[in-house]
Amino acid sequence: MFFSTIIQRAINWVSRSKISVTGSIIVAILLPVLAISFTFDYFGFIENPYFGFLIYVFMAPLFVLGLILVFVGAVLMPGREDLGIYAFEYFKEQLSRPGRYTRVRRLIYFTIAITLFCGFLVGVVAYGTFRYTASNSFCGQFCHKVMEPEYTTYKNSPHSKVACVECHFGKDATWAERSKFTGIKQLFAVTTNSYSRPILAPIKALRPGRKTCEECHRPEKFQGLMLYSKDSFLPDKNNTKVQTIMIMKVGSGDIEGRTAHGIHWHVSEHQQVFYRAADWAREVITEVRVVESGKKDVVFERIPDSNQDPAPAAIGKLRKMDCVDCHNRPTHIFLQPDEALDRKIAADLIPRYLPYIKAQSLKAITGNYSSTKMARIQISRKLQDWYRTNYPELIQKNPGLLEKAIQGAIGAYEENVFPDMNVTWGTYKSFLGHANGSGCFRCHGKLREKKTRKIISSDCDLCHVILAKDQVGPDILKILKGDQR
Ligand code: HEC
Ligand code: HEC
Ligand code: HEC
Ligand code: HEC
Ligand code: HEC
Repeated sequence: MFFSTIIQRAINWVSRSKISVTGSIIVAILLPVLAISFTFDYFGFIENPYFGFLIYVFMAPLFVLGLILVFVGAVLMPGREDLGIYAFEYFKEQLSRPGRYTRVRRLIYFTIAITLFCGFLVGVVAYGTFRYTASNSFCGQFCHKVMEPEYTTYKNSPHSKVACVECHFGKDATWAERSKFTGIKQLFAVTTNSYSRPILAPIKALRPGRKTCEECHRPEKFQGLMLYSKDSFLPDKNNTKVQTIMIMKVGSGDIEGRTAHGIHWHVSEHQQVFYRAADWAREVITEVRVVESGKKDVVFERIPDSNQDPAPAAIGKLRKMDCVDCHNRPTHIFLQPDEALDRKIAADLIPRYLPYIKAQSLKAITGNYSSTKMARIQISRKLQDWYRTNYPELIQKNPGLLEKAIQGAIGAYEENVFPDMNVTWGTYKSFLGHANGSGCFRCHGKLREKKTRKIISSDCDLCHVILAKDQVGPDILKILKGDQR
């Protein structure tokens, strides 16, 4: 009795204006749709990660708009309008007259038809949105400025044909993982300009786990050894080419009777490596555990610093080591300036026969520039000035040579440095080696077994055998290539 009076009053209140009736229709339609969609999203029934886009960016604001309309209509324009068919009273009156039933029925059929048609349209649009938001162009280009560093490096990487979502969600990502990367937060961050520059790595949700990589790679199948060779150019007059040749002990996980060994021992099925870090970037590792098929549990602790600083406190849970703990840059590969230039010289995008070009372009691209545009101007100017002063005849005879070098140097800069996003040389580190004591040396040589005090080895031959280090025309290469009989 009491409730029906309240409802009656509410209906009367709302039905006093067209605006609030429109608002209440929107609210009435969206409420159940939103409730169901939200439940689906929460429990992860819908596979597409951008399902949330539709819910939170499209439907939810519309719902709120509906609510606002109800209030605006009811408060600002009560009873001032001719409500016509909108009014509740109208329906009541029509229904109470027997002859009017057909007209009302027709109205109902018409409404249903319109609703179905609109539903179909919304469905088509939503499907399109789903497809689009999961595409590379949405991920990499929609938020062009924000994703530029990742998109550019991705385009230049061996994985440029793998879709962003294949690594970033994989097939069986949980709701929690997906929702964090659903793009909603990111979209709001982009529209409100509040995203972090640079984007922090790792993104919390971004955990390309073993399954993701193992859709395409099977480290347990790897063979034991792999040849590593790298060409570099010295910063001398001739830009001398030197080569580093190593045998990488890639090893394998255990399969087909082989025991896990070498570098991919860490991702064997039979023992698991866990670790805990003291920082978000996972640079300072405080504890490592090796658990063997639930039997053995070997604990490694951080070797105390000699300067008696208190041991860094761990944050977060134990993390099971997987592919991205070493291959953290499988596709967003940001090179060091030295390497970036070496590649341009090796590909003849910077002419090697221009004296001192390695040294001079290195100087030019490591300057501190406020924008890419400034960088282009400055790199060009610096190189022009230096060669005009030191090699005027050479430049006069062959101006194309310097122009090519300038373009190459600018390319090396633009592919790795993004001033708009505060991404500069070395912002994103690779863990795949041991540059600056990071990467493998976060554990190797830094932790020891708790009981036996045996240090995790950093013996130079543990992971690779160096056959030549920055050598000019190393003999070993001639042997490997079969040039020396
Ligand atoms: C081969 C797998 C792979 C592909 C394909 C891929 N990513 Fe990533 N992405 C990663 C990994 C691994 C990380 C770093 C994870 C970590 O450090 O925990 C990452 C990090 C990121 C980050 C955080 C910033 C950073 O550089 O660490 C962004 C943003 C990102 N990716 C966007 C993209 C976009 C956009 C695409 C498609 C154009 C894409 N990714 C394609 C694997 C991938
Ligand atoms: C959809 C398939 C696919 C997925 C998923 C994938 N990769 Fe790859 N990956 C490839 C292909 C194809 C190549 C070879 C590209 C080439 O040689 O140009 C490759 C190459 C590589 C290489 C050798 C790179 C080089 O410099 O030659 C490494 C290392 C690698 N992937 C690691 C990973 C890791 C780690 C992950 C998970 C984060 C991953 N991949 C996910 C397909 C994939
Ligand atoms: C302990 C660090 C580490 C872990 C963990 C690791 N890798 Fe590697 N992986 C390496 C190193 C080091 C190499 C040697 C290649 C190099 O130096 O460029 C390599 C090589 C590779 C290659 C290239 C092999 C080739 O023949 O070109 C692929 C592909 C690869 N890893 C995939 C994976 C996948 C998939 C996982 C996870 C299941 C994984 N790795 C886990 C360190 C690791
Ligand atoms: C999270 C810590 C951690 C990181 C990071 C790490 N390792 Fe290890 N690694 C270990 C532990 C623990 C062992 C086992 C040591 C022992 O049993 O004495 C090990 C053993 C090894 C072995 C010997 C495996 C065998 O038994 O044949 C190789 C090779 C190796 N690591 C290579 C690497 C390379 C290469 C990297 C960097 C790309 C790397 N590791 C990064 C923890 C780590
Ligand atoms: C835990 C494994 C591990 C140990 C121990 C280790 N390295 Fe390495 N080393 C690597 C990996 C992985 C790479 C990177 C390969 C790559 O870039 O793909 C590397 C790369 C190198 C390179 C080539 C770098 C370049 O720029 O070309 C040199 C030189 C090198 N290591 C020397 C050493 C020396 C000297 C020691 C002994 C103090 C040592 N390494 C110990 C894993 C190891």
